[in-house]
Amino acid sequence: MADKGNSFLLMLLFLVTTVSIDQPTSTADADTHTDRLALMSFKSLIRRDPSSALASWGGNQSVSPCQWHGMTCGAWGRRRGRVVALDLSNLDLLGTMSPSIGNVTYLRRLQLPMNRLGGTIPSELGRLLQLRHVNLCYNALKGGIPASLSDCKQLENISLAINNLSGAIPAAMGALSEIKNLQMRGNQLTGSIPSFLGNLSSLTILNLGTNRFEVANLSRNMEAFHMGNNMISGRVPEGIGNLVSLSFLLMRINSFEGSIPASLGRLQSGPVPSTLRSCPLELFEAQHNMLDGLITKELFLISSLSNFMYFQNNLFSGSLPSQIGNLKNIADIDFSGNKISGEIPASIGNCQSLQYLKLEGNFLQGMIPASIEQLKGLEVLDFSHNNFSRDIPQFLGNMKGLSRLNLSFNYFEGEVPKDGIFLNVSAVAIQGNHGLCGGISELKLPLCSKHTTKSGSWKLITITISCAVLFLTILLALYAFWHNRNKSQRAKTDLPLINNLHLRVAYVELVHATNDFASENLIGVGSFGSVYKGNIMIDGQQVVIAVKVLNLHQRGAFQSFVAE
Ligand SMILES: *[C@@H]1O[C@H](CO)[C@@H](O)[C@H](O)[C@H]1NC(C)=O
Ligand SMILES: *[C@@H]1O[C@H](CO)[C@@H](O)[C@H](O)[C@H]1NC(C)=O
Ligand SMILES: *[C@@H]1O[C@H](CO)[C@@H](O)[C@H](O)[C@H]1NC(C)=O
Ligand SMILES: *[C@@H]1O[C@H](CO)[C@@H](O)[C@H](O)[C@H]1NC(C)=O
Ligand SMILES: *[C@@H]1O[C@H](CO)[C@@H](O)[C@H](O)[C@H]1NC(C)=O
Ligand SMILES: *[C@@H]1O[C@H](CO)[C@@H](O)[C@H](O)[C@H]1NC(C)=O
Ligand SMILES: *[C@@H]1O[C@H](CO)[C@@H](O)[C@H](O)[C@H]1NC(C)=O
Ligand SMILES: *[C@@H]1O[C@H](CO)[C@@H](O)[C@H](O)[C@H]1NC(C)=O
Ligand SMILES: *[C@@H]1O[C@H](CO)[C@@H](O)[C@H](O)[C@H]1NC(C)=O
Repeated sequence: MADKGNSFLLMLLFLVTTVSIDQPTSTADADTHTDRLALMSFKSLIRRDPSSALASWGGNQSVSPCQWHGMTCGAWGRRRGRVVALDLSNLDLLGTMSPSIGNVTYLRRLQLPMNRLGGTIPSELGRLLQLRHVNLCYNALKGGIPASLSDCKQLENISLAINNLSGAIPAAMGALSEIKNLQMRGNQLTGSIPSFLGNLSSLTILNLGTNRFEVANLSRNMEAFHMGNNMISGRVPEGIGNLVSLSFLLMRINSFEGSIPASLGRLQSGPVPSTLRSCPLELFEAQHNMLDGLITKELFLISSLSNFMYFQNNLFSGSLPSQIGNLKNIADIDFSGNKISGEIPASIGNCQSLQYLKLEGNFLQGMIPASIEQLKGLEVLDFSHNNFSRDIPQFLGNMKGLSRLNLSFNYFEGEVPKDGIFLNVSAVAIQGNHGLCGGISELKLPLCSKHTTKSGSWKLITITISCAVLFLTILLALYAFWHNRNKSQRAKTDLPLINNLHLRVAYVELVHATNDFASENLIGVGSFGSVYKGNIMIDGQQVVIAVKVLNLHQRGAFQSFVAE
């Protein structure tokens, strides 16, 4: 088995060697001659060569082009001795690009940046079927981008940046399925940003900044405007709102700047036939850009958004408009890392499909709106690094689906609830709030006491307790009063009675009642003594009494008293 494999390898090597050796020398010379002619023609159109870089080109017929400045030749097979790369970077060459470059058949790499090449890009470039990399940036090329470039099916890199190119990007370039890097910034290109860009699945760098593109005339039927993971710079085209068929608007990780055009709101609300809106916009991501301006209501008019709205890591400012409640179908909102201020509008409670709400790293303030309780599907709530204050609403502990809650680095205060998600320390983050207390012991917060009470609600509780204590004191006092009173009454009734009808009254009371037996109170004088009128309190009532003062020195007076 091993022997068989080895001999197969040998045979293969032999075959390759044979092919190279057997190639007729005359043909090889002729092919090399083609390169020589084409390159000499290229040189002929260079009018100025300040560093004499091209001096080595051509003079001596016995020197192969492979030895000329800037050349790389192939080493194997058909490419052996043929020019595969031409690199004349940064030589300040002045001239125009000869169409003869199209005859350097095996060219894979054409590297001519930072010269002063004028004229147009020769359409003959399209004959270079092996071409993978063409860099013509920082020259003075004019005219259009030749559509024939789309014949170079192996192209991976095209940089035409910083020239004077005009016209539209040829639609045929949609066929360049290998393209990874397309740089056209700094030209005078017009027309629309071509929709085929969305089809170039290998494209990772697209720079179309500083041109004169418009999006206004993009196909109304375009369904995905995928500009994501690129390096597109410049403003978001104003006409974006005309893309009424858009289902996906993906602009993440670019260098878009400025504000989101107001026309965006038209994606939902414009006067557009419903047939054109068969696929309403479902998701909108513009995260990791440099978008700024107010987070305006237009952004929230697209009520069709059902998937997500990702705006994190931009420079949006202003406060969240109440129209955020229009997003009834949205599942995921992420505005983290912006400069959004103000309070969260109560209308957030209308986003009934919301599962993720991430507002981390803004300047939001006020309290967590009570309407959040209505978001029954909420799973993740990240409010960390904001200016939220007041107490943590109890209802968060009752939200069944909530699996991550981040309230860290705010100004929350008061007692941390002790149920639901608050029982799981790995699901809740509350560090960096200095007014919190209580919660489960794993949170290692101080116990809630009067010393930790600062917020209004705690003051309220303190006042309530004080009132309760005062009320109790009054109750106790009243009770004591009544109790004492009853006791004294009972004490009175407990006194030895002469019989059940007569109260025992102290002499002092009688002195008081009769005003010290004043003569004006003397009603009459009898045989055994005198009778006085008096006023006395009995069971809380003023009662008029008669007081008979017996003269015990008088005989029969004592019997009279007993009889009375
Ligand atoms: C041409 O190049 C060959 C090989 O480098 C050299 O021997 C010869 O002298 C050169 N001829 C001229 C005219 O420079
Ligand atoms: C390219 O080479 C062919 C012959 O192979 C020739 O006829 C043609 O003129 C050349 N084109 C240029 C632009 O030099
Ligand atoms: C394309 O450009 C990148 C970065 O400049 C480079 O690394 C890569 O080798 C180029 N591809 C080709 C085929 O030259
Ligand atoms: C581009 O063209 C304009 C006029 O068409 C000219 O003024 C400008 O200098 C050109 N820029 C370059 C870099 O050649
Ligand atoms: C865009 O459409 C308008 C109106 O249909 C037209 O006037 C304008 O020329 C178009 N622009 C481009 C670049 O095609
Ligand atoms: C994009 O690709 C799809 C499917 O391959 C094709 O039908 C469509 O015509 C392409 N669009 C453009 C603008 O090239
Ligand atoms: C956030 O709170 C801090 C501390 O109270 C305050 O200095 C800052 O001005 C607040 N920022 C905003 C945007 O309200
Ligand atoms: C909470 O937010 C802080 C700050 O943004 C972060 O460091 C931490 O990892 C988050 N914790 C959880 C549990 O999400
Ligand atoms: C606690 O929260 C973590 C993180 O969300 C989760 O993975 C874990 O299952 C939770 N534990 C319990 C007991 O719910």
